Amino acid sequence: MGKAVLMTTPKPDAAERIRTSQCVNERASLERFLQLQPMPAMIADVAAGRAVLLNEPAHRVPLEAPAGAAGYYATDTSGHTIGGGPLVAHLAVRAQGPVGVEIAWHTPARRWTFRVLARSLEPRNGSPLLSLLTFLDITAQRDAEAELRHALAARDEFFSVATHELKDPLFSLQLSIQLLRHQTERLATVPAFLTHHLDVGCRQVDRLTRLVENLLEVSRIANRRLQLDPEALDLAELAREVTSRFQDMAAALRTPLILDCPEPVIGYYDRLKLERVLTNLLTNAMEYGLGQPIVLRVRGTPDLAVLEVEDHGMGIGPEDQKRIFERFERAAPGHRRESLGLGLHIVRALVEAHSGTVSLVSAVGVGSTFTVSLPRKRLTVPQAEDISGGPGEQS
Ligand SMILES: Nc1ncnc2c1ncn2[C@@H]1O[C@H](COP(=O)(O)OP(=O)(O)OP(=O)(O)O)[C@@H](O)[C@H]1O
Ligand SMILES: [Mg+2]
Repeated sequence: MGKAVLMTTPKPDAAERIRTSQCVNERASLERFLQLQPMPAMIADVAAGRAVLLNEPAHRVPLEAPAGAAGYYATDTSGHTIGGGPLVAHLAVRAQGPVGVEIAWHTPARRWTFRVLARSLEPRNGSPLLSLLTFLDITAQRDAEAELRHALAARDEFFSVATHELKDPLFSLQLSIQLLRHQTERLATVPAFLTHHLDVGCRQVDRLTRLVENLLEVSRIANRRLQLDPEALDLAELAREVTSRFQDMAAALRTPLILDCPEPVIGYYDRLKLERVLTNLLTNAMEYGLGQPIVLRVRGTPDLAVLEVEDHGMGIGPEDQKRIFERFERAAPGHRRESLGLGLHIVRALVEAHSGTVSLVSAVGVGSTFTVSLPRKRLTVPQAEDISGGPGEQS
């Protein structure tokens, strides 16, 4: 009888012993659980802001700074030091979500990048709030990404310098050939082979110039150095000017080039950039248009200026229509062997820099219509950094 009473109402010292033994058991199972983790892991006392249990990999890192030691600190993904209280308390809160939080952990010996996941443990017997923190080592992955970014930046820089250096000699070559052509036109008799070779030279230099200009533009886009220089511009007049430069090519390819721009359409745009947009769209229409008539249309509404380049050539299949606007993408099998797949990427970047859009309606064997819509409000010119990331601001 007395025994039964003792069992239901244990003396305080017996209750204390049971609690202690429960705690010891729980601690042992937590320790076993931690040691099973292949990655650094710890149980942290959130309120005290310190680790109460660490597994072997966590000791090896080491995730806890030795008392009084300097040079141990954590930074976030922007490189800012995580301060304002104990790190484990910060992580126990911030790393709760499904993807946790990424930190760099610096020690005097080296730096790690970890994806940290935190899970609160159910409180028992009035124990403090404990949290399980696991540290997935993603250092190698992040270092490889940084190296790749560095290599890409070096490539873009080389690309930019090389194309820039090509521009000047090409320009003087273009001038010389044009001069030679004009001078021969004044001669009484010109041998046919001379006219032929001068025409070929002219066309090839024009092509090379377009290619170099596209390469330069792409490197500006990639390096976020695209800058707009807007002015009040009549797009109908610009269309006339660009089309006149295509007359030789249209004649050589026997392609009728029709300009449909009945009235001025004025907005605030960068002349050179929109010239490049039209040049790329018209070049494509010529090259993939199979000699069928091409129409360049310019229209205006109170809010928008619309440029349309329509051809009746090979057309583009639905599976390729999105992809061809990406860098180095070409639709198979219609593209030219020597093409780079840059033109439409540039068109889209330049149009979006003007806060505009470009769309495509096309069907294989029927033809394609590229439509560029540009706002007519005056542009607030964004900083070079902002432009390649997306549309600019409107005032
Ligand atoms: N008007 C068009 N008709 C049919 N296909 C087209 C037309 N315009 C573009 N394409 C397809 O889209 C691809 C991408 O065009 P884009 O102008 O970006 O590059 P490219 O013409 O191949 O090369 P680049 O313009 O750099 O010399 C082309 O290779 C071609 O397959
Ligand atoms: Mg092209």
